[in-house]
Amino acid sequence: MAREFNTVGVVGLGTMGAGIVEVFARNGVDVVAVEINESALERGQTTLIGSIDRAVARGKLTEEERHALLSRVTFAVGLSALGGVDLVVEAVPEHLDLKQAIFTELDRTCPPHAVLATNTSSLSVTEISVATHRPNQVVGMHFFNPAPIMKLVEVVRTVVTADEVVDDIEALCTRLGKVDVTINDRAGFIANALLFGYLNHAVGMYEARFASREDIDAAMKLGCGLPMGPLALMDLIGLDTAYEILDTMYRRGGRDRRHAPSPLIKQMVTAGLLGRKSGQGFYTYEGPGSPVVVADPLTPDPAGTAVEAGRAIAKVGVVGSGTMATGIIEVFAKAGYDVVSVTRGRERSATLRSAVEASLTKAVVRGKLPEEDRDSALARVTWSSTVDHLADVDLVVEATVEELSVKKALFASLDEICKPGVLFATTTSSLPVIECAMATSRPEDVVGLHFFNPAPVMPLVEVVRTIRTAPEAVATARAVCARLDKHAVVCADRAGFVVNALLFPYLNDAVKMVEASYSTADDIDYAMKLGCGYPMGPFELLDVVGLDVSLAIIRELYLELRDPGFAPAPLLEHLVTAGYLGRKVGRGFRAYGR
Ligand SMILES: NC(=O)c1ccc[n+]([C@@H]2O[C@H](COP(=O)([O-])OP(=O)(O)OC[C@H]3O[C@@H](n4cnc5c(N)ncnc54)[C@H](O)[C@@H]3O)[C@@H](O)[C@H]2O)c1
Repeated sequence: MAREFNTVGVVGLGTMGAGIVEVFARNGVDVVAVEINESALERGQTTLIGSIDRAVARGKLTEEERHALLSRVTFAVGLSALGGVDLVVEAVPEHLDLKQAIFTELDRTCPPHAVLATNTSSLSVTEISVATHRPNQVVGMHFFNPAPIMKLVEVVRTVVTADEVVDDIEALCTRLGKVDVTINDRAGFIANALLFGYLNHAVGMYEARFASREDIDAAMKLGCGLPMGPLALMDLIGLDTAYEILDTMYRRGGRDRRHAPSPLIKQMVTAGLLGRKSGQGFYTYEGPGSPVVVADPLTPDPAGTAVEAGRAIAKVGVVGSGTMATGIIEVFAKAGYDVVSVTRGRERSATLRSAVEASLTKAVVRGKLPEEDRDSALARVTWSSTVDHLADVDLVVEATVEELSVKKALFASLDEICKPGVLFATTTSSLPVIECAMATSRPEDVVGLHFFNPAPVMPLVEVVRTIRTAPEAVATARAVCARLDKHAVVCADRAGFVVNALLFPYLNDAVKMVEASYSTADDIDYAMKLGCGYPMGPFELLDVVGLDVSLAIIRELYLELRDPGFAPAPLLEHLVTAGYLGRKVGRGFRAYGR
């Protein structure tokens, strides 16, 4: 029988603490909520009440439940109020000396049977535990932000934590409606160890003006289905907290440069730009604590986008016959463009035509496309097997094999054939766009248009500008995306653009975690889905994308960035060598029935 925790203390009612109080009180546990002084206590109380009132307004909580919930919470200043609790969850700022001092005092104040838990994200639970005389009763209980919503709790066990304490805390998580994963005491545990390298990398991209804050965030939301973009997430976490977590992970986690906090974070913290809690971070909010973003001088002017006229595009050439070309032809034809499809040979052309027809017909059968729209879309496409037919198009989209020599040769011949003023685009996902541009005599007219697979479904296109691309060529590409009903994000010409550069190192890190026997693929997938709201865990995603494709992208990133942290995980290389390529062959990290 697991022990009952009837009264729980929560220390620190900031971003996390206030949410943790709500979790306990919602689940029938009495809570003593403690802050450092009256004003902080009042702020914590306001946060808690605001969150509960929002739940009532959304119909998730009744008035009676609200009343019952609040009657379970006692508010107090100072740790002396914790003399009668069975468990304490500490959620004060991420500083080891502060946490150790608090644990020493908790050890003195709390009853001998009480379990002491820390919500630390990155500090050593072991080091915190030795500040008490009961290190075997100390655990990590790492909730996720926002605590009332995110399902995951990472339970952190040190080498001295008693087994029954871990069992009791796991049972408590279940009672709170949470899913727990239990892990050893390593910097960042599971989720943060995978999340913070990615967040820091995104900040670095923003700092280097690689793309705008809106574009970085939109890329990850629309390209990967994440609930929020990395910069908006930094604002939610709090930049001061994020800085401390990165700094600790850097020092504890083997000085991986990817965890060395981007200088911008420290500057913003010093300037008081802490994110949502201070009303301003990467974005500006309606007020401190508000989730509502308001316009500021960095907000793009929606009218401005319409003004960037660009060139008139009516006729589009699509070169290639693979998956991407098939989808892209469909997208352009559906949007009302005249399309010239160019493949190598009639047979390929016929196969491609059937594929496009089949896909459009599927949309008709599903009721997503009227039959006459399918017919008119198909009537707009000319099927050709020679690039000579591209002489009068306004835009050429190259979607051939991912080999630089092939693409360069194609762009050189397009340069000879196409009329002046044509916009050239490559759909490459990993090669430098500038290489294609320099194969022509008009690099200012060349952009990347990185569609995602399947092109008719995925809402995102990365518009890649090289150092030679004319601003008006970028404006044209954006206008085309708008007509295709795709969300364009503009980014510089660097390996992986935005999405792949941020996504694949994270997937690679997850593989390294399994390789080091630190956790299992199942627990890691759970942690990212339930702790961070990702639609798929990293191993599910790797198996879907294909391990060979993923490895190729990771190698490309490593070649360009040269940072040892980006080196492909040997386990990934071995699985690819062994032919375990993912779902497409029935086996990757997991085995699939075929
Ligand atoms: N922010 C996140 O997304 C997140 C997620 C999971 C875990 N965490 C961890 O939770 C902990 C708290 O982070 P946060 O983001 O809530 O910080 P925060 O700065 O928002 O809140 C900390 C609170 O602790 C209070 N406090 C400081 N000293 C105190 C003391 N001596 N006694 C009582 N209260 C005291 C402060 O007044 C403040 O209200 C950190 O260890 C952090 O790493 C944060």
